[in-house]
Amino acid sequence: MISKTDRHEDRAIPISVADRYRELAEQLDALLAGEPDPVATAANAAALIYHGLPDMNWAGFYFLRKGELVLGPFQGRPACVRIALGQGVCGGAAARAQTIVVPDVHAFPGHIACDPASRSELVVPLIAEGRVIGVLDLDSPRPGRFDETDRRGCETLVAVFLKHYRMYPEAP
Ligand code: SME
Repeated sequence: MISKTDRHEDRAIPISVADRYRELAEQLDALLAGEPDPVATAANAAALIYHGLPDMNWAGFYFLRKGELVLGPFQGRPACVRIALGQGVCGGAAARAQTIVVPDVHAFPGHIACDPASRSELVVPLIAEGRVIGVLDLDSPRPGRFDETDRRGCETLVAVFLKHYRMYPEAP
C-alpha cells in the first residue's frame, strides 16, 4: 500500500502501487494531450511524476544529443548537464537500451552523484522507432525505493510520454 508514505495525496482509501501507476498513466495521458511543444511536454511529465510518487528527490529527462545525454526538464536539485553513453546509471541504461534499477547507488560502479541525498535510482530508456532518444531518471533518498512494480509502472509512463512526445516530430 502506498498511503503511508504518499505525502502528495490525501486519500480516504489507500490504493496499491500498481493502481497508483495506472492512475498516473491516465493523468499523464490527459495532461500531455494536444500539446506539440516537446519542452512543455517533458516539463509537465517530470512534474507529474515527481509530485505523484512518494519518496522522490529527483525526476526528469536526459535527451541524446550528438552522441551524449544532455539534461532536459526535471524536478529536483540542479544536476550534471552532460553524461557520456555508458557512463553512470543514465548512460548505462541508454547504452544498453534497458531499464536499470539500482537499489543502492553507492554500490553501483560509476554512479554519478548529482544530489548526495540520492540512495536509489531507476532509469528507463526512451526508445522511439528502435532508437534510444534519451532516458527518464528517477532518484530517491530511500535505499531500495524502486522494485519490479516501479519498473513496470515507469516503463508504462514512458510509453505514454513517448506517444505524445513523438506525435509532433516537427515541433517546435
Ligand atoms: N545518478 C545519475 C546521474 C543523473 S542524476 O542522478 C540526476 C547517473 O548515475 O547516471
